[in-house]
Amino acid sequence: MTKTSNLFMVLALVTTAAPALAQKTTSQGIDEYRAMLQDGNPAELFEAKGEDLWKKARGPKNASLEECDLGKGAGVFKGAFVELPKYFADTQRMQDLESRLVSCMETLQGFNADEISKTAFGRGEMANVTALATWIAAESKGQRFNLSQAHPQEKTFYEVGKRLFFLRGGTHDFSCASCHGEEGKRIRLQDLPVLTKNPGDGVGFAAWPAYRVSNGQMWSMQLRLNDCYRQQRFPYPGFASDATIALSTYLGVNAKGAASVAPAIKR
Ligand code: HEC
Repeated sequence: MTKTSNLFMVLALVTTAAPALAQKTTSQGIDEYRAMLQDGNPAELFEAKGEDLWKKARGPKNASLEECDLGKGAGVFKGAFVELPKYFADTQRMQDLESRLVSCMETLQGFNADEISKTAFGRGEMANVTALATWIAAESKGQRFNLSQAHPQEKTFYEVGKRLFFLRGGTHDFSCASCHGEEGKRIRLQDLPVLTKNPGDGVGFAAWPAYRVSNGQMWSMQLRLNDCYRQQRFPYPGFASDATIALSTYLGVNAKGAASVAPAIKR
């Protein structure tokens, strides 16, 4: 065979094989996705890690988190998730699950809360906070959201969250409501839930932390909000900032009565 005919053969192979190859990878991907769903939600691995982290003596003080008060008394974790964010008298702050966990890691275990808050998602102690949040959320699976609005701060944060939800700005003049304020909106085949009212069981606030199949990562609610701010072309909010906790209070109060499915499995 001559060099030229060799080249033609290779070209022919490439041109005929390429679409078939692409198809195979797509269907392979879908097969893997199905198999994964059958095997269960990979979030279970993070739950197991979170439970372990809760019980293990760690940090400069070599203590566990078993005395952590998530709002229902020291050490009570069942049912805590569906009542957060709420006002905590000891820190004199509105806190969501993640910020409360970081407070406990500081007071009980001696970790530096500021350092953890500055750590990138998925890294170091921040990855541990996500695993802990995944396990704590899982311990309230099936329970219904019931955030308190008794403390003045809880009411203020709801109102601030509502305003932030409708606050337009950035290069595209988007607000959260631009994508989550009307029925029937979609992006990349994802239905966008309406979050100005109760979106129903296991939707919106009642689904996160969630395992994301598209990138194989466990995402906490703080990261979900962070990424929505990115989609909104806003600067990233600080981890567990008052803004994200106000938004979470708004979403959580709106979700009153919705059953939690967290940790969910998502695209
Ligand atoms: C440009 C459109 C856009 C904007 C603006 C936006 N989001 Fe999102 N949001 C999305 C998309 C897309 C998803 C779904 C992602 C997926 O499933 O892959 C989503 C998902 C969510 C979810 C999870 C819904 C569920 O059931 O899983 C919440 C909660 C949320 N957004 C809150 C917000 C908040 C709060 C803001 C304002 C700070 C906001 N979003 C701004 C596009 C947007």
